[in-house]
Amino acid sequence: MSKSFWQDQIHHHEKLVFLAPMDGYWDSAYRQSMKRISPHVFCISEFYSADGLIHSKFLADSVLPHQTIEDPLIIQIFGKDPEVFAKAAKIISDPSYNIAGIDVNMGCPAKKVVRSGHGSSLLINENTAFDIVKALDEATHLPISVKTRLSFDGNQDLIKFAQWLQKAGAKLITIHGRTAKQAYTWNADFTNIYELKKNLDIPVIGNGDVENYDDGMSKIQNLDGFMIWRKSFWNPWAFLGTKHFESGIWKDHISWFKNGIYHPTLGEMLEAMDFHAEKLVATKGEKKWSLEIRKHLVQYIKSFPWVKEYRKRLVTTESYGQTQETIAELRNKFSADLLKRPGLGEIE
Ligand SMILES: Cc1cc2nc3c(=O)[nH]c(=O)nc-3n(C[C@H](O)[C@H](O)[C@H](O)COP(=O)(O)O)c2cc1C
Repeated sequence: MSKSFWQDQIHHHEKLVFLAPMDGYWDSAYRQSMKRISPHVFCISEFYSADGLIHSKFLADSVLPHQTIEDPLIIQIFGKDPEVFAKAAKIISDPSYNIAGIDVNMGCPAKKVVRSGHGSSLLINENTAFDIVKALDEATHLPISVKTRLSFDGNQDLIKFAQWLQKAGAKLITIHGRTAKQAYTWNADFTNIYELKKNLDIPVIGNGDVENYDDGMSKIQNLDGFMIWRKSFWNPWAFLGTKHFESGIWKDHISWFKNGIYHPTLGEMLEAMDFHAEKLVATKGEKKWSLEIRKHLVQYIKSFPWVKEYRKRLVTTESYGQTQETIAELRNKFSADLLKRPGLGEIE
């Protein structure tokens, strides 16, 4: 990948659509599950400590390798020491990992993170923020991007901060439309993000409270793209919009695309669960897998009326075999309902 990666993407896509990073969940298997349905989505990994990456080859070898379907993959890192970031960049840039870009977390509001001088605390340490982006930009051929917030507590100047990062070498910036102090309360506000775009040359991505693809397209106005997190939870269909149902492979499914949301059949949900489980075992191995899958699979069928009965089994599963048995049982028991859509209340 080259430094012009994001500018090139802007020319190839109407708008850029991102799966927002989520610490603790967005691993290779999750990303593969999303991209299988929505190949147009750009994935940013959950954040990893820059320090951790340079001291643990095990960490690097666990989180950087990925499958072709996830490409182009952006790795997000956090920290506070520009030299450490530069060293981490060298590791991430190893051609064998085939990473497309490095994103710096300057938005996390968690107390522990802020106290350590990481995440959103960089919004009030502009010089360190500048040095980090500059050190990264000089250390790698990969494009550097930043994900941050409107401000730390409402008292900082977003335009000045972003222009400063652009000067340091940032090639794309994502703004979550809340201050760090607001954390996840209040409504996200894009007003200052539209204003910021008028004052920057690099692509600007808006994030916060985007409901689905169509909602994102209507909200972004002059921005270059949007990012969705909560509304895409175990819903790889959240990134499909009117545009995708008007032509191409989704055209025949347009009747079940209502108010910006696609309602999958029970059969499609079970297929998504199967795929996710299989990829988790393939990437993490059976031992680690069984604990991780517990928090994922049940989410796919949350709109299914009988979910309670199956939730318990899915969240206590001990092995891949047991999970496969549960999915097979759902398929058998509801064999006449596989083409029905739980989200539309078609199964009683
Ligand atoms: C539990 C949790 C984990 C998150 N992990 C990350 C992360 O690793 N990196 C990051 O930049 N943002 C992270 N975020 C923020 C989201 O990516 C996103 O910016 C925020 O939820 C707003 O988007 P939404 O309204 O679409 O949910 C996290 C948020 C939460 C609540």
